[in-house]
Amino acid sequence: MAGLLLVLAVILFTSFSITKAENNRTFPTNFLFGVVTSAYQTEGAWNEDGKGENIWDDWIHSNPSHIKDNANADVASDSYHHYEEDIGDACVYVGAYHYRFSISWSRVLPQGFNNEINLDGLSYYQRVINKIRAYGMVPVATLYHHDLPKPLQDIGGWTNPDMVNYFASYARVVFEHLYNVKYWITFDDPRSTCRLGYGEGVYAPGIAEDGIAEYLCAYVLIKSHAAVYHMYKEEFTNSTVPAKMSIAIDLPWSEPLSNYSAGHVQAAERRNMFEFGLYANPIFKGNWPQVVIDRVGFRSQKEKLTKSRLPEFTKEEIDYINGTFDFMATNIYTTHIVADIIEPEYDDPGYMKDMRVQISVDPEWTIAQNGNPVCITLLYYNKKKQMYGRNNLDTKL
Ligand SMILES: *[C@@H]1O[C@H](CO)[C@@H](O)[C@H](O)[C@H]1NC(C)=O
Ligand SMILES: *[C@@H]1O[C@H](CO)[C@@H](O)[C@H](O)[C@H]1NC(C)=O
Ligand SMILES: *[C@@H]1O[C@H](CO)[C@@H](O)[C@H](O)[C@H]1NC(C)=O
Ligand SMILES: *[C@@H]1O[C@H](CO)[C@@H](O)[C@H](O)[C@H]1NC(C)=O
Repeated sequence: MAGLLLVLAVILFTSFSITKAENNRTFPTNFLFGVVTSAYQTEGAWNEDGKGENIWDDWIHSNPSHIKDNANADVASDSYHHYEEDIGDACVYVGAYHYRFSISWSRVLPQGFNNEINLDGLSYYQRVINKIRAYGMVPVATLYHHDLPKPLQDIGGWTNPDMVNYFASYARVVFEHLYNVKYWITFDDPRSTCRLGYGEGVYAPGIAEDGIAEYLCAYVLIKSHAAVYHMYKEEFTNSTVPAKMSIAIDLPWSEPLSNYSAGHVQAAERRNMFEFGLYANPIFKGNWPQVVIDRVGFRSQKEKLTKSRLPEFTKEEIDYINGTFDFMATNIYTTHIVADIIEPEYDDPGYMKDMRVQISVDPEWTIAQNGNPVCITLLYYNKKKQMYGRNNLDTKL
């Protein structure tokens, strides 16, 4: 069996209670375990059967030092050739209910545009779906996990508003060809796509326009998500049982340095708003979080910019985006301790300066090999109250 990437998939529906589990460290009986893979990290076969070049192929081939030990994913765990063993052995062993995988845009549309469709690529994903179902698992398919076709990056990638149409065109081809997917995820880890890819520049495409490009990316990405949600509901839910759709938002959860300091409690909430609310609030509540609008607006003004670095949604856009989900999905990799700090200098723009926090970890926490503390917080969403909650507590998120 190829070294399949296994991640705990947590899809939390409304009115989910984990009180008992919190008390005795046992997952409740209605908790569903799953496994997750992503195309670039597992498939390999980077240029086989008509697949085009994506931004990770390009970024790593042009400078292998971007990945530890100069590794690349040209072969990865070779799941393109070994998906049958991966889906069968690994998942039956861990007792997975869901199997989530991502679709490589360049494998379906080699140049990114819908005028050239690679049927071999689509056939691969249909075989994956059939295999998942043959093992009695539920297929969950992600449309986008960081791997933009290179030609689309050449015209600005996720900072280009035209991406909304290109993403919808790609999604339509996928929906027309793939059957028996029960849950669709439009974007996996949007925060990583935007912040790491366009703000810090440590993920492909490696753009480091801190405090500017991650907001542009979030703006375009959220509108792309909403366009695909509406398109799916309008065009593809007529006959068979419609699949459910959402976005899987990644976040490092923030806990205040002290529960007894209003400054630190607000700082932790502020960071949750920047890291999570930036993507979640427009979709689950309507518009960006107010604190993000206020902070980026305030600092932009101090930086003598005539307009906020955070793009503004129109009223029509807010209404169009608000509610484009059938369930809530989050990827929570770690937790940090967050403290308030004094206002940083008004020199260059910066996302961390907008957030105005200091981040640390509890020395008691175990640190994983990737450097993240092993500390997971569960989130849920109360649809009626339009409120996210942490474990069993409501928060002001
Ligand atoms: C812990 O919670 C689980 C699930 O609710 C329950 O089945 C189990 O009996 C509990 N264990 C103890 C020791 O209380
Ligand atoms: C359902 O929608 C699909 C895609 O637009 C279309 O091809 C099909 O004919 C429709 N089926 C019915 C029963 O309307
Ligand atoms: C703050 O309160 C939460 C919830 O009760 C608790 O989990 C956390 O450990 C507390 N933080 C500190 C620093 O005491
Ligand atoms: C978003 O939709 C919900 C549910 O329909 C509604 O309660 C809320 O007011 C909307 N948010 C905005 C900002 O319009």
